[in-house]
Amino acid sequence: MPFIPDPESWLFHDAMAHPPALGSGEVHLWLFSLDQFPWPAQAIADCLDDHERDRAVRFHFDIHRRRFIAGRGQLRHLIAGYLQVAPRDVRFTYGQQGKPFLDAFHHGQGHRTPLQFNLSHSEGVALLGVTLETQIGVDVEAMRDMHDAGDVARDNFSPSEVEAWERLPDEFRQDGFFACWSRKEAIVKAMGGGLSIPLDSFQVTLDPGKPARLLSIDEVPNAPQRWTLWGKRVLPGYWGAVAAKAPSLEIRSFCLKR
Ligand SMILES: CC(C)(COP(=O)(O)OP(=O)(O)OC[C@H]1O[C@@H](n2cnc3c(N)ncnc32)[C@H](O)[C@@H]1OP(=O)(O)O)[C@@H](O)C(=O)NCCC(=O)NCCS
Repeated sequence: MPFIPDPESWLFHDAMAHPPALGSGEVHLWLFSLDQFPWPAQAIADCLDDHERDRAVRFHFDIHRRRFIAGRGQLRHLIAGYLQVAPRDVRFTYGQQGKPFLDAFHHGQGHRTPLQFNLSHSEGVALLGVTLETQIGVDVEAMRDMHDAGDVARDNFSPSEVEAWERLPDEFRQDGFFACWSRKEAIVKAMGGGLSIPLDSFQVTLDPGKPARLLSIDEVPNAPQRWTLWGKRVLPGYWGAVAAKAPSLEIRSFCLKR
């Protein structure tokens, strides 16, 4: 699938320029390819740290290794632009369930911190969200035929989401499934627990023709007023979502100009 973002939805940004200024109340959403990139492949591979190199060599298939390196390398280049350091000088630390964060080393180094980010990748496409001062989760999903979508929905979605999904006309069911899945995964990634958090403990909208909304989180009063949820088809065949634990954030969408 060619990587051709819609210029109506994505602002093309020159990779050699500083990233746009990130204001409070904003999320910068970056869509990029894992198969073609604006920086030299060597510069992408060379900026990884030992932990990332160690992970890279353990992939069984070359294509997975190359895409992992492309994801981490471009993540480093983009984050380095915000911090104004060299990509190899970006230091990560990890939460209990593996969520990467910027290391405390970057706090108090004259950088604007805390900078929060979350990365997702699917097939050859990556989506990165960057924001200030709030937990963020991002997901991108390549749509594929799911003959067992009904079973997966019933096993994972909450009963009201399954009902909403079953009410969709047949031709919207595949989009509705991936819209719902990506929104739910973005939320559990924002929380940091990933799929260790029950996906049926909160409810989202899934109608592919309507804006994404968080409807409720079990035992969290007024959750929709406390969170931002964004979800769209980010490329033909790909659904993407961003969730952040702060109300009414503005999502600014960028992709890298090659
Ligand atoms: C996080 C999780 C939902 C990712 O699902 P996925 O669809 O395979 O992958 P995505 O492409 O959307 O996201 C992967 C990226 O999210 C980030 N990530 C990893 N763990 C994360 C977490 N717990 N929360 C949020 N983000 C996480 C990383 O940047 C990762 O990219 P990397 O592979 O380059 O390191 C899934 O791996 C999960 O539930 N992990 C937590 C539970 C677990 O397995 N823990 C054991 C590891 S310590």
